[in-house]
Amino acid sequence: MDELYRAEALSRRFSHGRRQVLAVDNVHLVVPRGGRLGIVGESGSGKSTLVRMLAALDRPTAGRIWFDQHEITGLRERDLGFLRASVQMVFQDPLSSLNPRMRVGDIITEPLRSRLVRRQLDDGISADRRLAEVLDAVGLPADCSDRFPHEFSGGQRQRIAIARALAPRPEVLIADEPVSALDVSVRAQVLNLLADLARESGLTLIVVSHDLLVVRHLCDHLAVMKNGSIVESGPTAEVYADPQQDYTRALLAAVPRIQTRRSS
Ligand SMILES: Nc1ncnc2c1ncn2[C@@H]1O[C@H](COP(=O)(O)OP(=O)(O)OP(=O)(O)O)[C@@H](O)[C@H]1O
Ligand SMILES: [Mg+2]
Repeated sequence: MDELYRAEALSRRFSHGRRQVLAVDNVHLVVPRGGRLGIVGESGSGKSTLVRMLAALDRPTAGRIWFDQHEITGLRERDLGFLRASVQMVFQDPLSSLNPRMRVGDIITEPLRSRLVRRQLDDGISADRRLAEVLDAVGLPADCSDRFPHEFSGGQRQRIAIARALAPRPEVLIADEPVSALDVSVRAQVLNLLADLARESGLTLIVVSHDLLVVRHLCDHLAVMKNGSIVESGPTAEVYADPQQDYTRALLAAVPRIQTRRSS
């Protein structure tokens, strides 16, 4: 198996005054190149903390992480360029993650200024051409690049965030609750978009969601988190068909309710 990510005995402790919170507790994880991992679990179970460490936006207090065979644990920012060029993140709230004072075109092409990203786009494509390509890929009109984020709807803003993440042709897209701020009506569109992109470009996808429909749609592998630990993991279809933990069964039980409500 071609490993893209490996995490061993990963932990992250936070201090809340005198109280200590073990947000991530001894997590082991392997993500193969081209894999699509879904991370689910109740609020506060450590999902965001885990993926922020994978994206090197936060540091573990114990354990080790490898990306593409390189250990990234403890690397300084200036040595993380290879990871910054290869891993892009889409955040939960599409408005607060986009700079309100920048035009959409500049937001999307900003990651292309990095030297490593330029090398990655090895066909020497211009920023303008790449901008046109990714706008097309996410289904936004070409003329939106002169406008500002607040001029768009929530669904369109999340498309902008996805376009920015895709612009450098990353190997990995990490999406933390990518559709939970969106209306039900645009949720399916953005989900289908992510699924198509993953299929067409062979993206490695890591998706956090408390909505199991989202990960079932997007992911071939599932990790279930509780109190900072992965309590169950496996191929998505297997975990669905035969959950081993009461906790997982309870999470899964929420899904049919949503479906019934929608179809009734
Ligand atoms: N920067 C921080 N400082 C202190 N505590 C934090 C910090 N980030 C997270 N925590 C704590 O770590 C635990 C896990 O939080 P985390 O945000 O990773 O959970 P989550 O699974 O993403 O939850 P949600 O589904 O609500 O987004 C929580 O107890 C939270 O309060
Ligand atoms: Mg979270």
